[in-house]
Amino acid sequence: MILVTGGAGFIGSNFVLDWLAQSDEPVVNLDALTYAGNLANLATLAGDARHTFVKGDICDRALVDSLLATHRPRAIVHFAAESHVDRSIHGPGAFMKTNVDGTFTLLEAARAYWGGLQGDEKAAFRFHHVSTDEVYGSLKPSDPPFAETNPYEPNSPYSASKAASDHLVRAWHHTYGLPVVTTNCSNNYGPYHFPEKLIPLMIVNALAGKPLPVYGDGQQIRDWLYVKDHCSGIRAVLAGGRLGETYNIGGWNEQANIDIVKIVCALLDELRPDPAGPYSRLITYVTDRPGHDRRYAIDARKIERELGWRPAETFETGIRKTVQWYLDNADWVANVQSGAYKDWVSTNYQAR
Ligand code: NAD
Ligand code: TYD
Repeated sequence: MILVTGGAGFIGSNFVLDWLAQSDEPVVNLDALTYAGNLANLATLAGDARHTFVKGDICDRALVDSLLATHRPRAIVHFAAESHVDRSIHGPGAFMKTNVDGTFTLLEAARAYWGGLQGDEKAAFRFHHVSTDEVYGSLKPSDPPFAETNPYEPNSPYSASKAASDHLVRAWHHTYGLPVVTTNCSNNYGPYHFPEKLIPLMIVNALAGKPLPVYGDGQQIRDWLYVKDHCSGIRAVLAGGRLGETYNIGGWNEQANIDIVKIVCALLDELRPDPAGPYSRLITYVTDRPGHDRRYAIDARKIERELGWRPAETFETGIRKTVQWYLDNADWVANVQSGAYKDWVSTNYQAR
């Protein structure tokens, strides 16, 4: 079996669902159920004996030790994190706690557990650390995309905390021989994406007739990958990645934010036309994010060359599926827009 951390969040829940759709290997899912964790993402697994959910904190060493001793996983796939840049600007403490301390705790627990394994079990064990392209900093328009050899230049509290965790993972391999792999992925989008991030925020605001807040001039560029392609990339690296190596995962799809927002508006105009007029009428430029990274882009040739992975979705197919998913899952959207969500919206947008 495998131990997944953060498997009730956006990417983690997609990973668990895809994993169990493709294999019968059981998953133990450790998640603290912060504002970003949502058991509704895993509702289709209710009663499925292959999935064991444990509510708990990755910083709780005794809990992690006991899960490892009880379930004896062959791998840990580590998603759990605080993941939103804007929240890291308002309150960086939680990012240091979970992303740095939490990863440290998991590494130490994994080291003790792996040290007690023998023979084939020991050789097969993997610690897979899920990270972000944001650790590489910001690109100029003419720079080549991020390669695995780029220096780390994180600019936000979020990316600094992820960079720190990547360094810990690297060091635990070099110093202790822990069998690790790390993946650094670009911006994901798709089902179960919490509507604090750009794409789901724009979809839910548009449907509610609310302003679509574009930071600064909207010309910031991100590479976008459909979440299920990220999950298949992780499976490829977990299965065949070389120990101690990092692999960039990306969608070969650079887009300016304003273009993303216009594409979402056009799809909604087609799929759920608003009698009040085109959704693009709601686009509103607001004060920029402090320290806003201008451009991210991923050179994903290493994972393709070594492991034969390429994304299955184009942006056109992936974004259409995503918009349709939000239209089909109004209950899920309504449930995540709780009081805490409303508090966040007013914290982040009221003074902009
Ligand atoms: P998310 O915020 O949607 O989910 C994070 C999950 O971790 C939640 O279920 C939350 O409850 C859980 N969690 C948080 N703190 C915890 C703790 N202390 N103990 C146990 N569980 C805890 O995040 P996501 O977008 O699914 O991202 C998952 C991982 O992928 C993160 O490590 C993130 O850095 C990385 N990543 C995300 C993206 C992206 O575009 N979203 C891109 C590249 C990499
Ligand atoms: P986000 O989804 O928060 O991901 P990240 O900051 O990790 O890339 O934001 C994606 C881009 O969209 C980023 O450049 C900030 C921008 N953005 C807006 O313009 N308006 C918004 O309301 C949000 C949430 C993001």
